[in-house]
Amino acid sequence: MQLSSRLDELKPGVFHALFERRTRLLARGRTIHDLSVGTPAFLPDPHIVSALSGAAADPREYGYAMSELPELKAAIRGYYADRFGVGLSDSEVTAIHGTQEGMAHICWAICDPGDVVLVPDPGYPIFTDGPRLCGAEVVSYPLFEEKGYVLDFADLSPELCRRAKVIVVSYPLNPVCARADAAFYRELIVFAEKYQITVIHDAAYADIAFGDEPYPSFLSFPGARDVGVEFYSLSKTYNFTGARLAFLLGNERIVQALATIRSQIDYGIFLPIQKAAVAALTGDQSGVRARCRAYQEMAEQLATGLAACGWPVRTSEGTMFLWSGLPYGYRDSLRFTLDLMEETGVIVTPGSAFGARGEGYVRFALRTDPVELDQVIAAIAAKRGQLEKLAAADRVQEENR
Ligand SMILES: Cc1ncc(COP(=O)(O)O)c(C=O)c1O
Repeated sequence: MQLSSRLDELKPGVFHALFERRTRLLARGRTIHDLSVGTPAFLPDPHIVSALSGAAADPREYGYAMSELPELKAAIRGYYADRFGVGLSDSEVTAIHGTQEGMAHICWAICDPGDVVLVPDPGYPIFTDGPRLCGAEVVSYPLFEEKGYVLDFADLSPELCRRAKVIVVSYPLNPVCARADAAFYRELIVFAEKYQITVIHDAAYADIAFGDEPYPSFLSFPGARDVGVEFYSLSKTYNFTGARLAFLLGNERIVQALATIRSQIDYGIFLPIQKAAVAALTGDQSGVRARCRAYQEMAEQLATGLAACGWPVRTSEGTMFLWSGLPYGYRDSLRFTLDLMEETGVIVTPGSAFGARGEGYVRFALRTDPVELDQVIAAIAAKRGQLEKLAAADRVQEENR
């Protein structure tokens, strides 16, 4: 049987390999601290759970939704107006089963096979896999730690810019925990206008950004709506990851094009989930701000603890992660991840899972609490010497190869 050659393009997810090892360690009775997958340890606020469970108790809510409830569109429009100062019409908004799904489908609406899509490296994997699945040519643009992981347009050749049809941008950026400033977004819009490139901005962590000012929406910058769209997900803001709900907002032609594609492959989002999303977007937002502070405190606690173990870490500017170079002389992020897991029971994600430029780094997901974080730091401190020895042995082996 001959399956699609598309499958050849998809790398087996590193999370599955880590999960298998995790299962083996657990079977041996080991204590595990799993800081790999980015699903929050926080729970959704009670008013969100009760909206979902109340609606789910009503048998009339089980039919095909077909499209968004008017009150869901009103809720996200109200949220964008209050939180970001962005006014949107109903036709500039469509709901999707999470940004992951939206990113997997949006290029079907924008690209033809062979069109060039620019994606960040390091970056979130669906930015690459989504466009590839529809036959687009994916070209990664480099992000440098010394430039704060913010795209420097001078690093893109004019020839590449002329060929590109779409650019995917996302800040605060998973996995590198970097923000971009207003000047960057203004330059992005000028760049997109100059080269006629469509911007897809993923704002998954707009509400988990550290600093004095709340993080802006890309759509709040003049001209943004003429050149692009933004994904906004409820997953991390409201600890709603499993419920699957996000939006595409902005340029009406693109939003409607995605809605048309999705109308052929989907019959709408389960109504109780839509009702819970309305409760989330229109209800008390104090929990959102409290969790953002809690993520910042955890990032600082972990960075301080690791520094004390001789492992300096870049300061996080946002997201629910911490990004760090490899310690103790390690060079291979998967090798280090496996040794760390075996020695300490702490599971992180190797940076190589986020692109070639992620090699040499690892990502911690802050899906934990301060007490467990202290245990993580203690476990690493206790095994520092052993990890240094393993790294040295690894280097000798590499040199002899
Ligand atoms: C940058 C980024 N975009 C999108 C997603 C997926 O979001 P959703 O749950 O809405 O599919 C994630 C999840 O970790 C993410 O980190």
